[in-house]
Amino acid sequence: MTHLNANELSQVFEREFHATPRVFRAPGRVNLIGEHTDYNEGFVLPSAIGFYAYVAIAPRTDDKVVLKSSEYDGQFEFKASRLPELKQGAWSDYVLGVARQLSQAGLSIKGANLLVHGEVPVGAGLSSSAALEVASAMALQSLAGEVLPLKQIAKLCQNAENQFVGARVGIMDQFVSCFGKQGHAVLIDCRSLDYELVPIPPDLDFVICNTMVKHELSGGEYNQRRAQCEEGVRILSQFSPEIRALRDVSLEQLRKHQADLPAIVFRRCLHVVQENERTLQAVQAFRSGNLPLLGSLMQDSHQSLRDLYEVSCSELDAMVEAAQSLPGFVGGRMTGGGFGGCTINLVRHAETERFAAEVSARYRAKTGIVPDIFVCSAANGAGAEAEHAAV
Ligand code: GLA
Repeated sequence: MTHLNANELSQVFEREFHATPRVFRAPGRVNLIGEHTDYNEGFVLPSAIGFYAYVAIAPRTDDKVVLKSSEYDGQFEFKASRLPELKQGAWSDYVLGVARQLSQAGLSIKGANLLVHGEVPVGAGLSSSAALEVASAMALQSLAGEVLPLKQIAKLCQNAENQFVGARVGIMDQFVSCFGKQGHAVLIDCRSLDYELVPIPPDLDFVICNTMVKHELSGGEYNQRRAQCEEGVRILSQFSPEIRALRDVSLEQLRKHQADLPAIVFRRCLHVVQENERTLQAVQAFRSGNLPLLGSLMQDSHQSLRDLYEVSCSELDAMVEAAQSLPGFVGGRMTGGGFGGCTINLVRHAETERFAAEVSARYRAKTGIVPDIFVCSAANGAGAEAEHAAV
């Protein structure tokens, strides 16, 4: 993939559209712990990472919205005053879905040229789609002359994905793409949308290891996990009407009603209830500098995702195993929705290079696949790029 900075993107825009754009960007994310808890109104602990989606935008004098990408050929054209109601099955859906949401929120979508550039690896589980949604929302609202509260931006980007694109994702990815902070993880309460910044020790790097596999079943399996959680809530709320989401269920309550739940639903619920608890404990571990505890919580999280929630796969398990006991390793687990994608490892900075080389060699020896390894740290959330006069 070609990497363009905002200035270079402006120059490409000028060549394509003969106008000077404003450029907005929003990051992808990695989740440290709290997996499959967001749509259960629980807790998550992601960080934004320094891979961004960029959207350059300038107004047009007519009613057309024209979308181009720096990576893909061709362009999409729509009427600003009559945006399509159905998805088209292309990357443009993320931008369109957001435009429709903004318009439903009362913003006027006007004729505009947009050029999109993505540096978040696509299909790796690092939320390239949320990054594109949030950057698009920032860009489109700038032309409407309004600034919506960031929480509303996060919500409406999630709605775009739920309603227009058709994936029933939770709020985590869009939220942290908006609120990420350099050097910090973000503890999000996915019910209230309150959040806290949790400092990450400066000598720890994120080493993100891409298994390079994405099992096709993931879309359907994700929605099925959600449905199983909803089934658990439906049954448990018959005994305790105050239960509105798995967030409200204690471990004792769950164990007491084990026999009332289908075995598979019980396992899914057990993962969610314990994962919420682990996420809060991980925040304490970060705050008190208890890195061994953090490491064991991440390990438990992975095992639970593998055995109870059943969203891991042999490649993710091999990648997690490959990291064990390497010098500098603090903790690691699969990250994101699962069925492929990446693991996240917290690694002491002094050992990062060696760790990256070793984990890659071990994974390759086990699976025959050469992984991509990204070394990064927690980055800031979405915003406007400084104005660039393209030269
Ligand atoms: C995907 C979704 C998130 C979240 C994770 C699992 O990344 O987009 O909302 O549910 O899976 O934690």
